[in-house]
Amino acid sequence: MTQRAIRAPAMTFHGDPFLVPAGEALRHWPDALMRIEDGRIASIEDAEEGLKRLPAGVPVTHYEDALICPGFIDAHVHYPQTQMIGAFGAELLEWLERYTFVAEQDFADAGHARDVAARFLRELLRAGTTTASVYCTVHPQSVDALFEESERFNTRMIAGKVLMDRNAPNALLDTAERGYAESKALIGKWHGRGRQLYCITPRFAPSSSEEQLQAAGKLWREHPGTYMQTHLCENQGEIEWVRQLFPERSSYLDVYDHAGLTGPRAIFGHAVHMDEEDFACCHRTGSALAHCPTSNLFLGSGLFRMVDAKRIERPVRVGLGTDIGAGTSFSQLQSLGEAYKVAKLGGHALTPEQGFYLATRGGAEALRLDDRIGSLAPGFEADFVVLDLKATPLLDFRLSHARDLAETLFVLMTLGDDRAIRATYVAGECVYERDRPESFLYP
Ligand code: GUN
Ligand code: ZN
Repeated sequence: MTQRAIRAPAMTFHGDPFLVPAGEALRHWPDALMRIEDGRIASIEDAEEGLKRLPAGVPVTHYEDALICPGFIDAHVHYPQTQMIGAFGAELLEWLERYTFVAEQDFADAGHARDVAARFLRELLRAGTTTASVYCTVHPQSVDALFEESERFNTRMIAGKVLMDRNAPNALLDTAERGYAESKALIGKWHGRGRQLYCITPRFAPSSSEEQLQAAGKLWREHPGTYMQTHLCENQGEIEWVRQLFPERSSYLDVYDHAGLTGPRAIFGHAVHMDEEDFACCHRTGSALAHCPTSNLFLGSGLFRMVDAKRIERPVRVGLGTDIGAGTSFSQLQSLGEAYKVAKLGGHALTPEQGFYLATRGGAEALRLDDRIGSLAPGFEADFVVLDLKATPLLDFRLSHARDLAETLFVLMTLGDDRAIRATYVAGECVYERDRPESFLYP
């Protein structure tokens, strides 16, 4: 048995601050001792008590000027697009054609896929993200590359091969039958192996035939516990295209619902242009949404309606996604800064507690993993980040004037980025230390 302990201020959520007062949802220890045993949290309590109970010989790592929180969760991200972040000037459909579908063809080469997967995983960990729901490409070897790299760090990752059988370059197309067979083989190989989880991934309705969507639904039903991710209502041109391609369906979401692609462990990216029936359908079916603020601003897609999504009579599970490479940062702190501005333009203020909840426990609830990650509590997998409250001169100065935890969290949302991540722990092991980059750099 390996044991260690971490001492630092710490915070976690045990409720949803969109639904209950922040004070009830948030737990804060000004000085915590967290004991870790074999990759899981054994206890977390006030340091004074914890130190009395700590067995002799267990090493304690003490972080000062720090705040510990659960590892960030990225509910929607494309690892192959790491090489094309910041592609200029286009809106969604043109951006896909001009940049995305060009970059993704490189992943026919397994060596290229392994190289990008290695860089991608390191960028996530550098940003404090310990779990993500990841789109690979249409090539099965792109999935192997991602999971192999994830196994190396023992991260809990959700990922899958993109399914698309129309409206993309030939080199990126599978067929309904081949996509089904390749995904099934990948489920057999990866789902539940260590911490890896498989996600059936029809890219979006315009690039899958009805036959392929039906096959994806069948595959999902045949493999309980697997995930399903796709894009939904991101952009007006895309929505109009779906209307033309599926005239018999009542809405974009109805296309997926009809194919059996709604339910627990379904994750719909973007969901910017949703009506009441769409939100109600997500609530009814237990489907989750991934809010991707940096992407929605970068492509000019629109403003996600968080307050409507979380309406107390029919709350929808919402996680936070970076959507790299339409998104512009791996840092969920930066995503939160943009989420705040998106909410503000919609007439609402996202509180700091709501923000940090979205990036941690809220993401875990969206991904149905809230019984094992997203919180600091006994029995949970010890994935956490050490935030540096003195990461930059400005952050140090600004936080010296913060009156309470809420203000500290809000300033971290506004000024924070990867520099604020002092260390990232995965299953109790420190996999990234900002001040020891030589142990982590790639290649
Ligand atoms: N819709 C379909 N594919 C994509 C993608 O790769 N990125 C984004 N942002 N939207 C999509
Ligand atoms: Zn996306």
